[in-house]
Amino acid sequence: MHGTESTPRNITLAVTGASGSLYAAEMLRSLAADDRVSRIHFVASENSLRVFAEELNLSGRNNLAEKLLGSPCAKLRVHAPSDIGASIASGSYPVSAMLVLPCSMGTLASIANGLASNLIHRAADVCLKERHPLVLCVRETPFNRIHLRNMQLAADAGATIFPTIPTLYNQPQTTPQMAQQFVHRVLAHIGLAQPGAYQWQADED
Ligand SMILES: Cc1cc2nc3c(=O)[nH]c(=O)nc-3n(C[C@H](O)[C@H](O)[C@H](O)COP(=O)(O)O)c2cc1C
Repeated sequence: MHGTESTPRNITLAVTGASGSLYAAEMLRSLAADDRVSRIHFVASENSLRVFAEELNLSGRNNLAEKLLGSPCAKLRVHAPSDIGASIASGSYPVSAMLVLPCSMGTLASIANGLASNLIHRAADVCLKERHPLVLCVRETPFNRIHLRNMQLAADAGATIFPTIPTLYNQPQTTPQMAQQFVHRVLAHIGLAQPGAYQWQADED
C-alpha cells in the first residue's frame, strides 16, 4: 500500500487552524531531512496562519514554510489554499500520501462530507478517491457528536484518524520531544519509519 522503502515519495502536508503548530513544524523538518521524500507539497489554510501567530509568533503567509524549516528547501512546493488548479488537486498527479497536521474540526467536516471547497479539502478528496493514504491528525477536546460522526465518515471513506495525542511512556522531557515522537509515529504509519525513533521494548524482548 505504501510502496517500498526506496520509493521516492511525493508527500502533501496540509496545515489547518487547529492547535499544534509545533507538530506541523516538526513534520516539515522531518520530511525535508528524509532522502526518501522527493517532493513536499505544503498547503497552509487561511485560519492556520492565526494559530501559527499565537503558538509560534510567526506572522503572515510569506515564506512560512522556510521560516518553519529555518532554511530554503529545494524539494518544497508551496500552494495557496485557494489554488484548486495545483497539481495535488488532480487524481492524475502521483501523490504518495497526504497528511493533515493539525486537522481542525472544520477541515475534518469538509473532508468527511466531500465539500472540496479549497485545495486542502480537494487534495484530500482526491486521495480518498484514488485510494492514496490520507492521515487526518485531528485536534479538539472534548469531541461533540458531529466531530465523532465526521471522523467515522472519513475513516469509512479510507482516511486514517490519527489524533494529536502524545505518548508519555517514552518519558518526553520537552514539548519538542513530545512532538517528535508523534511525528515519528505518523511517518512510520505511511511507511517512512525514522531512524532512532523510540520503540517500546516489552519485557520479553
Ligand atoms: C489559537 C486557536 C486555536 C484553535 N484550536 C483549534 C483546535 O484545536 N481544533 C479545532 O478544530 N479548531 C481550533 N480552532 C478554530 C479553527 O481555527 C477554526 O474552526 C477555523 O475555522 C478552522 O479553519 P481551517 O480548518 O480552514 O483551518 C482554533 C483557533 C484558534 C485561533
